[in-house]
Amino acid sequence: MEAFHFLSFTLLLFSCSFSAALRYPASHRNEIGPDSNTHSVNGQAERLIRSLNLFPKHEANLVLNDRFAAKNAPGITEKQFSLNVTGGGNGPSIQQFGHYAGHYSLPTTKAAKMFYFFFESRVNKSNAPVVIWLTGGPGCASELALFYENGPFQIRDDMSLQWNDHGWDQAANILYVDQPTGTGFSYTTDDSDIRRNETDVSNDLYSFLQEFFKGHSGYVKNDFYITGESYAGHYIPALASRIHKGNSDNEGIHVNLKGFAIGNGLTDPEIQYKAYPDYALAAKLISKSDHDSITSNLVPPCQSAISACDFGGEDACTEAFSTCQEIFNSIMETAGSINYYDVRKQCEGSLCYDFSRMEQFLSDDRVKSALGVKDVDFVSCSSAVHNAMMGDWMVDYETGIPNLLENGIKVLIYAGEYDLICNWMGNLNWVNAMKWSGQAKFQGASIVPFVAGNAKSGELKSYGPLAFLKVYNAGHMVPMDQPKAALQMIQGWMQGKI
Ligand SMILES: *[C@@H]1O[C@H](CO)[C@@H](O)[C@H](O)[C@H]1NC(C)=O
Ligand SMILES: *[C@@H]1O[C@H](CO)[C@@H](O)[C@H](O)[C@H]1NC(C)=O
Ligand SMILES: *[C@@H]1O[C@H](CO)[C@@H](O)[C@H](O)[C@H]1NC(C)=O
Repeated sequence: MEAFHFLSFTLLLFSCSFSAALRYPASHRNEIGPDSNTHSVNGQAERLIRSLNLFPKHEANLVLNDRFAAKNAPGITEKQFSLNVTGGGNGPSIQQFGHYAGHYSLPTTKAAKMFYFFFESRVNKSNAPVVIWLTGGPGCASELALFYENGPFQIRDDMSLQWNDHGWDQAANILYVDQPTGTGFSYTTDDSDIRRNETDVSNDLYSFLQEFFKGHSGYVKNDFYITGESYAGHYIPALASRIHKGNSDNEGIHVNLKGFAIGNGLTDPEIQYKAYPDYALAAKLISKSDHDSITSNLVPPCQSAISACDFGGEDACTEAFSTCQEIFNSIMETAGSINYYDVRKQCEGSLCYDFSRMEQFLSDDRVKSALGVKDVDFVSCSSAVHNAMMGDWMVDYETGIPNLLENGIKVLIYAGEYDLICNWMGNLNWVNAMKWSGQAKFQGASIVPFVAGNAKSGELKSYGPLAFLKVYNAGHMVPMDQPKAALQMIQGWMQGKI
């Protein structure tokens, strides 16, 4: 398991993010911690990972060990588990719940195993919808959301678990999947299984869902929703389209897809990159003259690079990423040590958030044996998975959404108001610009307050199956910053009240 195919990854990744790393401003290059890779190849991913105070043992969950190859049984290997959860709020202290963890052998790979958690709902589980959650990165594990955002429990400072009163398992049977392969506890013994685009990502998730519903057939009839955050703005529309196609073609088990929700996502890069200077100006991160100079000097080359990407394939798209990232980098040079996931906050040195307890918890042998992953290391965020997806970053995933809307699939795009990196303005802009039969009515819809409990928690705009919600007092991770509002949002939306 210690053996790591470092050389092949270096070669595999060389063309992907080399230029991006070089173009990152020097002021940020200095902030790389002492443990980071000195190769500039992995610069961007390494910075992203360190900024969350994560120190994964490997660049990807790639294990070169015969023991694992021998274990490559088809289908799902799942176990019900029970962790020690102490009372917190009004949560129960003994768990009588269906909590499962499993590995699925991905069929169209050499040796990839996809890891997931499945938590049956704490309320009304046989009728509650089934929700899948996908964390972004690309390359970060969904346990980030499980333990810090909307999972059934959270990790306390003393490493014990406490129930989360606002876990989404209060409203749904929820799956957290580690993907693409190489992320979290999802591993492979063959580096050719590392994914480079959404075709492969969505096929993997679709085949996982087929197998999952075979094993949990009682949930096939329940409503199904896809949710996630950040880079999942790419994964989610791709998966929704894949499921819709599978359903239309009667490919296998009908997945009862009712809708998808994207939180602070990256979906339509052309529109969203253009919105960076506008958001930065509104948030007072840059001056009007900086704004105007970025808009006239850096936005046009980005727009033409994206046009080239639309038809030019992976290399042109990787190039577009480097070109467009100049916009973001230029803002960050002015904004300094601002936390780009929450512009109200500063990063201390290279540290913007501290998610290290998750890594510590999931490296504990007792926890790992409870989950049935004793022999697997946990890779919180994988730089290799991240870098392999660089040619996918600038691809527009808005294009598949109108067809889903026309087929009655509900879409909720929500964004915490203080996030810069996938800010609400860019998201609202692409949602408004999207061409579908309800476009004019959506554009003309009035903005109404979103009330959670008694508090005005955001601003909502909706028409028919499409809704956009700006969430107050939240950054990039809405369920972490506003847990109560986030639970009410997802529950109300699934129940058709939003
Ligand atoms: C359980 O779900 C059913 C069907 O959605 C609903 O009619 C019922 O009110 C729910 N019960 C509770 C306690 O939420
Ligand atoms: C996705 O990646 C695989 C493996 O690199 C490649 O064979 C396939 O052509 C790619 N598909 C698209 C649509 O780019
Ligand atoms: C749960 O607590 C018991 C008793 O303290 C301990 O033996 C066990 O290892 C714990 N389980 C986990 C997964 O930490």
